Amino acid sequence: MSAAVAGQSAPLVSSLGYVGVTAVDLAAWETFGTNVLGLQVSESTTGRLLLRADERAWRVSVRPGDGSAEFIGWEVDEPAKLASLVTALEGVGADVLRDPVLAKERGVAELVRVTDPAGIQLEFFYGPELPETPFTSPNGATFVTGGLGLGHVVLVVPDMQAAEHFYLDVLGFLESDRVRTPRFDVLFTHCNPRHHSLAMMPSKSGLEVGLHHFMMEVDDLDTVGHALDRVLDGAAQLNSSIGKHINDLMVSFYCQTPSKCEVEYGVGGITIDDATWQPTVHTIENVWGHRRMPGAPPDGM
Ligand SMILES: [Fe+2]
Repeated sequence: MSAAVAGQSAPLVSSLGYVGVTAVDLAAWETFGTNVLGLQVSESTTGRLLLRADERAWRVSVRPGDGSAEFIGWEVDEPAKLASLVTALEGVGADVLRDPVLAKERGVAELVRVTDPAGIQLEFFYGPELPETPFTSPNGATFVTGGLGLGHVVLVVPDMQAAEHFYLDVLGFLESDRVRTPRFDVLFTHCNPRHHSLAMMPSKSGLEVGLHHFMMEVDDLDTVGHALDRVLDGAAQLNSSIGKHINDLMVSFYCQTPSKCEVEYGVGGITIDDATWQPTVHTIENVWGHRRMPGAPPDGM
């Protein structure tokens, strides 16, 4: 599985906190985020777009750039956990930076950042700002977040062994399962009962290293269906048709964001209990659906 070192016995992070991407066209992201996904604009300037999905001040950040992902934020429960995390990262020689200026910018009590083996900026934080105004989705979406976090991220990594060592042995992510098919070799991991908050797959032809997609879960199939209708009506490029994954049983579709990454938008993902969960290897990807659309970039589960 992963390198034979003394690993964490439990995840040091509690959930996926936020994602930050860049885009050439922030206005396009604002339209996409509100109209397709049902996110609420929290801040919109020429330099930054922040989108809300729940009681948090924001969950998605978009800044001007070439469309690459900018950062991934992982939440920890308490200051002591952040200290343990710093110790674990420094123990493997990672260059961990405490960044109070960035913490203020992100609206969190404390934050450290580090670059993962794939070159992605990770931010670990606790104490997110909670605005007094309630979340109101422009199209009535209710996102499944809370203790399960924002959703999940799927990374394309140049070196699976290095990524597995970093995320499982050092940060304590727990293996959920793997999907190994002629097209895929994906490792799914969790840090809370959500089936996976992080998955990773090796880079291959046409698949750029970095954030392949992030997933947001809503509480109602109709919300997914309405979003899919808007995509099919031209609001975004549909990359994978609606389908049901073999492992987390999420019913979802994938569409292109105005950045390089995709969004998986779904409903009904399972939660798992470490007391009884047994990691397995699946040899098919889907119960049904998730057909890749003509013209879509290479896919990742
Ligand atoms: Fe996914």
